[in-house]
Amino acid sequence: MTTILSANNETLADSVDCLHDGGLVAFPTETVYGLGADARDDKAVARIFAAKDRPSFNPLIVHVANQAAAEGLGAFDARARNVVERFWPGPLSIVLPRLPTSGLSLLVSAGLETVALRAPAHPIARDLLYRFDGPIAAPSANRAGEVSPTQAVHVANSLGDRADLILDGGDCRVGLESTVLDLSGNRPEILRHGAVTRAQLVELLDTVEDASIPTNEGAPRSPGQISRHYATAIPIRINVTDPSSDEAFVAFGETNNESSATVLNLSPSGDLIEAASRLFTILRTLDRAEFAGIAVAPVPNSGIGCAINDRLRRAAAAHAD
Ligand code: TXA
Ligand code: MG
Repeated sequence: MTTILSANNETLADSVDCLHDGGLVAFPTETVYGLGADARDDKAVARIFAAKDRPSFNPLIVHVANQAAAEGLGAFDARARNVVERFWPGPLSIVLPRLPTSGLSLLVSAGLETVALRAPAHPIARDLLYRFDGPIAAPSANRAGEVSPTQAVHVANSLGDRADLILDGGDCRVGLESTVLDLSGNRPEILRHGAVTRAQLVELLDTVEDASIPTNEGAPRSPGQISRHYATAIPIRINVTDPSSDEAFVAFGETNNESSATVLNLSPSGDLIEAASRLFTILRTLDRAEFAGIAVAPVPNSGIGCAINDRLRRAAAAHAD
């Protein structure tokens, strides 16, 4: 099990080194503990999903030191500035269009054109963010299906040795995940309720829709829904071993396929974490009208492979009648 460290000069410096090396650092925020990685590093972000055993790719919140850092990642408008000036640092995440120059891993947004940003208030989180001087992607530091951790020992019990470092910050003051406010469209929408309330947001924004309510089919209106995901313009076929010559081919592991026009390999060595880290970039690279479609080789359905296959099935289904 990963040792729990009290935060001091030395352990914070080690945490920054660990993040630069593509490692995972669990750290306290005022809401819940987060499992952090360099948000610009595809492979590090893929390791977060692997550590959590998530069966699908959810977009992650990108943590920043302050508004200035956030303005380099998302497209701020007057509404966003208004809200952030009032509630940051604090338990509020805002969803904005991702700037093309953000440098963020595409995996952070799980294929969406938007990014969720938050400047946490916890002194240890702030210290870490200022020292690292870059964006930290961090979902709650627990395995999928478990409640969010509000003490360092919860993180250790849930993740075992999957975090490289765990910084101890005592009990989380809020104990509930941040409010998620979507400002990427014309109408502000609450995607998740938290300590910053709808009433507080209405004071600043006039109208705020509640989009956190499950639909009558019982399915939550989550960003995991196909319609809100990036879908390729050209068709996708999955579990393909014999691509046609007019298709681009996405290989996995060793391959000797030479029949298709273009072959990109998710991971020549068959490493699923590497495959996850390349998935969205490869799909975007191959999504060109010169190809009849994209054919994807079978990807093993274990570990993070489940999330890769979930994403590929959604992309393929987007073209099915
Ligand atoms: O309090 C918190 O927000 C904690 C601490 C660590 O900051 N983090 C957290 O992250 O709860 P996570 O990954 O467990 O939850 C992220 C939430 C999910 O509901 C996700 O769907 C939503 O934020 N989200 C992230 N990016 C989004 C985007 N681009 N569009 C819509 N929703 C997004
Ligand atoms: Mg969570």
